[in-house]
Amino acid sequence: MGFATDCIHAGQEPDPTTGAVTVPIYQTSTYVQEELGKHKGYEYARTHNLTRRTLEKNLAALEGGHDAYCYASGMAATQAVLTLVKAGQRVVVSDNVYGGTHRLFTKILAQYGVEFAFLDASDPAVFEEQAGEFQMLWIETPTNPLMKICDVRRLAALAHRKGALLVVDNTFMSPFFQRPLALGADVVVHSTTKFLNGHSDSVGGVAVVRDEALARWLQYVQNAVGAILSPFDSWLVLRGTKTLHLRMPRHEENACEVAPFLFNHPKVERVFWPGFPDHPGHEVHKHQATGFGAMISFELGSLAAARRMLGRVRLCSLGESLGGVETLISHPATMTHAGYTPDERQRLGITDGLVRISVGCEDADDLVRDLEQALAAV
Ligand SMILES: Cc1ncc(COP(=O)(O)O)c(C=O)c1O
Repeated sequence: MGFATDCIHAGQEPDPTTGAVTVPIYQTSTYVQEELGKHKGYEYARTHNLTRRTLEKNLAALEGGHDAYCYASGMAATQAVLTLVKAGQRVVVSDNVYGGTHRLFTKILAQYGVEFAFLDASDPAVFEEQAGEFQMLWIETPTNPLMKICDVRRLAALAHRKGALLVVDNTFMSPFFQRPLALGADVVVHSTTKFLNGHSDSVGGVAVVRDEALARWLQYVQNAVGAILSPFDSWLVLRGTKTLHLRMPRHEENACEVAPFLFNHPKVERVFWPGFPDHPGHEVHKHQATGFGAMISFELGSLAAARRMLGRVRLCSLGESLGGVETLISHPATMTHAGYTPDERQRLGITDGLVRISVGCEDADDLVRDLEQALAAV
């Protein structure tokens, strides 16, 4: 089936009891059993929930995976995937990943004897030289918030030569624009909170895999740890994915108006967006994705300038998160990437003057007007 058909139908059958076209919210903690050991395949809701399972099948289809497992947040999905490595093993991570990912890896999982190394994976030649041995390679592409592009095919080949897994956090692109499993990745992670849900009204995460053995492990972890996505959140994300193919082109169309506006504005020093032909990752991105997405970062030069601008936006909502139909604007240094130390942020180029915008689905003219009046305060 085509992508749009999969968005609307994959994994979903009319409800067998009533014929309801929309999968019900199975809001139950347990299931009655006919006799000991005889039941309909549903025993306890941490282990089995049909609303969640329907979403998992839908997301597996959209990412072209064998199976998918949903968790209580993007971070819970990330944590579940990290159970694929053990004490004494090494994980290499593309630098400037989401601050929460960096925090989980360095402040929590490092305590259990897993070693983490953060390297610039956007330059594959240098990366190959520096990476050393590892059991997992974790990347974002574009990276958050500097929009560096990592070559998924090349990094998958490198990881596989080393007997390692490649994990791609595909939150920024969504499977509408980029399907890392088809490029060689082993696992795709999403914060479903973002474009997949698309309406800023649910927090969740998913891990999608190509391989049956990985699927069984992630299912085991989902049940054993219990950080499951609730039935209501599962239903919300399912409703979100039905319109993913309609929302994403609109997000990008608007980004194609906003990015050049920012680029040409005298108060904006630099714009980070892979859609610009002179972006260092533009060509690689074009070969692994079908669009440039709606995430743009831009440099205003100082905290004071960023504060003035962000204090003046009216239509754009100042807040953490991204991927909603409403335009969300944020300040990485004090919000999404506050978990990095000031030194780490400085080394990576996550400056105090950097602003990140997740361009929504409003009228582009209205967005540009709002940004223009806010930039006038800088
Ligand atoms: C790229 C990326 N990955 C993972 C996460 C974590 O997801 P969640 O907030 O759903 O736990 C985020 C959150 O902002 C993110 O931006």
